[in-house]
Amino acid sequence: ELICTKQDNPLVIGLGDGENFIASDIPAIIARTRRTYILNDGEMAVVKKDSITITNRKGELVTKKVFEVNWNAEAAEKGGFEHFMLKEIHEQPKAVRDTMSQRIAKDGKSIVMDELKWTADYLNNFNKIYIVACGTAYHAGLVGKFYIEKLARIPVEVDVASEFRYRDPIVDENTLLIVVSQSGETSDTLAALKESKRRGAKTLALTNVVGSSIAREADQVLYTWAGPEIAVASTKAYTTQLILFFMLSLYMSEIRGTQTKERIAELVGLLQKVPAQISETLSDVEPIKTFAKQYGFNEDVFYIGRSLDYDVALEGALKLKEVSYIHAEAYAAGELKHGTLALIVEGVPVIALATQKSVYEKTLSNIKEVKARDAVVIGIAAEGDDELEKYVDHVMKVPETDELLIPILTVVPLQLLAYYAAITRGCDVDKPRNLAKSVTVE
Ligand code: M6R
Repeated sequence: ELICTKQDNPLVIGLGDGENFIASDIPAIIARTRRTYILNDGEMAVVKKDSITITNRKGELVTKKVFEVNWNAEAAEKGGFEHFMLKEIHEQPKAVRDTMSQRIAKDGKSIVMDELKWTADYLNNFNKIYIVACGTAYHAGLVGKFYIEKLARIPVEVDVASEFRYRDPIVDENTLLIVVSQSGETSDTLAALKESKRRGAKTLALTNVVGSSIAREADQVLYTWAGPEIAVASTKAYTTQLILFFMLSLYMSEIRGTQTKERIAELVGLLQKVPAQISETLSDVEPIKTFAKQYGFNEDVFYIGRSLDYDVALEGALKLKEVSYIHAEAYAAGELKHGTLALIVEGVPVIALATQKSVYEKTLSNIKEVKARDAVVIGIAAEGDDELEKYVDHVMKVPETDELLIPILTVVPLQLLAYYAAITRGCDVDKPRNLAKSVTVE
């Protein structure tokens, strides 16, 4: 007889045949059953091999609906890849296709979000949107802010959940709070969500896990449908979150009339090319392996970029840090001369993202500044850019698209670079030291 109770952290009961299970997450039991009960805070279960009794805080019996997991054990296995991280990087074309599926109008010219059914009145009620998340999901939120402000023209503030929840933010019924979380269980993000609801905000969750605490707590949910992400380093969750933010922003812009129908149709058209463009980016990993071998033993790596390139640089640096243990820092390229340039000396690798046409010349001048200090610069550019290679040591190219969509492509070589750097250094890629997949404690 197992007795368990749930408070704040997730708890799942697996329903087997002549056997039952308790676990903190579905992948632990998926090989044995896809039928589960998901406990709520304050509930207690007495689990025997052929019976499960669930009660609430008052000791009253609770009748639960069986939650059927819609993915199988195969999705939680490596499927021929050496590591989950590599498998999940390669799953991105499918994952982003799944995120888009059912959310593009039949004529392919606009976005449909049946989950939301927002109106202009509903949106005009908000004077501010907050996006709150942690780690990689926070980095996706930075891109989300850019999309919403650029396309839907509503002011957005992005914050890390552990800061937001303790800083007495100005949140009321005129606030829309968007939380982003792959697992849907991150403790700080959940707390920020609960606090904002208490203050009257409307809430929307972008998450990957159906039935997760965040999905159940938020007023509305958009699922990324990326499939289970097992590796600690988040990869396909990030790209699918970007896709979802992009679609949400287009959806909002159509409702608010902030973009023309033609512009929306153009962007939806380009969006649908992204899965194939990711596949193209993944088709030749050899140069990335070579860079990883060449620079995998450096102690410090810098990432620079402007605008959306800066947001992706932050994610690239986090990936490298967490799986290869190389010290990596991302800087807004224009900030270099305010201090960090002092660290750029001969041979220091600098990864320079230069895909944003609106700030291209500015980025180029920052690249020249680091080259003048003899840094080794690896540039990331869009196909068709023949300029960058004149100023850097190596170039990696990604397919050309609108500058709003290109972050979904530029992050892919950065994920691969982090992965192969970790392999070069003999690190345990899927289980980096000191880290856990779901951060269900503060
Ligand atoms: O499950 P969540 O998206 O809420 O997790 C947030 C972070 O803990 C997570 O993104 C973390 O930064 C990843 N390990 C980064 O790869």
